[in-house]
Amino acid sequence: MSRSFYITTAIDYANGAPHLGHAYEKVLSDVIARHHRMLGEKVHFLTGLDEHGQKVQQTAQKLKVEPQQFVDGIAVIFQEMLKNLQISNDDYIRTTQPRHQKVVQDFLQKLYDQGLIYLGKKTDWYSTRQEQFLTDKDRDENGNWPEIYGEVTQTTEENYYFKLSQFQPWLIEHIQSHPDFINPSFRRKQVLEFLKEPLNDLCISRPKSRLTWGIELPFDRQFVTYVWFDALTNYYSAVVEKGLWPADIHVIGKDILSPPHAVYWPCMLKALGIEPPKQLLVHGWWTINSQKASKSAGNAADTLALAKLYGTDAFRYYLSREMVVGQDADFSEKVFADKYKADLSHNLGNLVNRLLTMVGRHYQGTVPAPAADEESEKSLRQLWMQTEKKYLASFAECQISHALEALWVFISAMNAYIENRAPWKLAKSTDPLDKARLDSCLALVAEGLRLVSIVLTPVLPETCAKLQSTLGLDSPRLYEGQLSWSQRCTGLKVAEKCILFPPIETVAESP
Ligand code: ME8
Ligand code: MG
Repeated sequence: MSRSFYITTAIDYANGAPHLGHAYEKVLSDVIARHHRMLGEKVHFLTGLDEHGQKVQQTAQKLKVEPQQFVDGIAVIFQEMLKNLQISNDDYIRTTQPRHQKVVQDFLQKLYDQGLIYLGKKTDWYSTRQEQFLTDKDRDENGNWPEIYGEVTQTTEENYYFKLSQFQPWLIEHIQSHPDFINPSFRRKQVLEFLKEPLNDLCISRPKSRLTWGIELPFDRQFVTYVWFDALTNYYSAVVEKGLWPADIHVIGKDILSPPHAVYWPCMLKALGIEPPKQLLVHGWWTINSQKASKSAGNAADTLALAKLYGTDAFRYYLSREMVVGQDADFSEKVFADKYKADLSHNLGNLVNRLLTMVGRHYQGTVPAPAADEESEKSLRQLWMQTEKKYLASFAECQISHALEALWVFISAMNAYIENRAPWKLAKSTDPLDKARLDSCLALVAEGLRLVSIVLTPVLPETCAKLQSTLGLDSPRLYEGQLSWSQRCTGLKVAEKCILFPPIETVAESP
């Protein structure tokens, strides 16, 4: 039986349009999902929308529409983005769906029945003008409440609490004994550091007088459950009937690691007697001019338009190549344009066309067999073997940028090889040895490009399919049997020409 692999993204807040951060997380997850499909695993890839909460309720009110109608509109926009980015998710969960609400209420009831949820009272600072609770963090440097909050008074509110604190020793032990639970490992250390302080119990409700747009507590209809308890449960509710739990990877951004994913979620599951997920893969933030790309900053919407302008695959390449998973990265259209030109259009695109031109001109479009015992064959083959190893090892750690770096070393080596060999000169020679060298040169480059087209498929799915059909190859669904150097292109009829990445000027000028 093939292994099954369950991967999720965070579910996006439905209180605005998608931006670069959302796009990136979907692309990263999609690349990993596609890779596992090609490894022959049975993949389930989930993404979705986080639809409840104060902000959604407020935004809908402002727009004078029902919250449900509002989130229905947002869901369409997010799903449009997924389509545009060639995201291959198998399911899309929305927290307003009955299948989800039912599981959230089951969870709440079970915890309540076990005495793990209790009614408590807390006194907090409240701003009537902003209609929100404040904490000491909201005070200015002199310890006063800033003007925008108007009159701030202390209010006592009853709410339900989950006995989070009681699971702290278990959680610390779990994180310590499962080194892969939080990837990358420096994030794991931060979480363990955070857990040195005692945890408070977690407030999981809001009275309906303040918030109605949420899932009702099954044991007290005067309350709805508050966002994290609702949102985190999506990962489980989406697959409860498919038997796919535990998740292999939750892909999330650094802002929602601790406490939500590293603390609340595993403790909730533990309390329910359910296994924790196997890994939290934590990426950093995209910034634009050093400022976090976000809805509120409004600085990231235009970046999505670049996917249309440069092509989806080029956009996927840039995001995958430029962000080291775990670190922040600064988005720059200039760097994007430069990478497009250097890596995609020149390094890869021109190599393909050099091959097609030479094979067309000197072999009537049919890839020749290499001459035996070619030194150059040995060294390219060896470089491929190293590249394949690095590429797959980087993918196993979800370090896609490192995998691409290694692959482009190989592509550059093929370009250097063609430069040295100068097949256009060999073609003019009457020496039979040169004819043999020409055969080898073109056969090797064809084989190298075949291999590139296979491992690159998860990142650039459309480009690789196009490249394969250009070379006269079928597009394989699996890596299996495809990754060894095997001169499989010999005898294949190649296309005359193939523009994988049109010149940047043309791209920039097209409407
Ligand atoms: O946090 N760069 O939703 P969200 C990279 N609904 N990633 C970014 C980013 C940026 N500039 N900005 C946001 C939520 N993200 C909750 C999640 S999961 C049970 C509930 C990432 O729309 C962010 O880190 O604010 C998160 O992983 C995802 O986008 C959704 O963010
Ligand atoms: Mg956010």
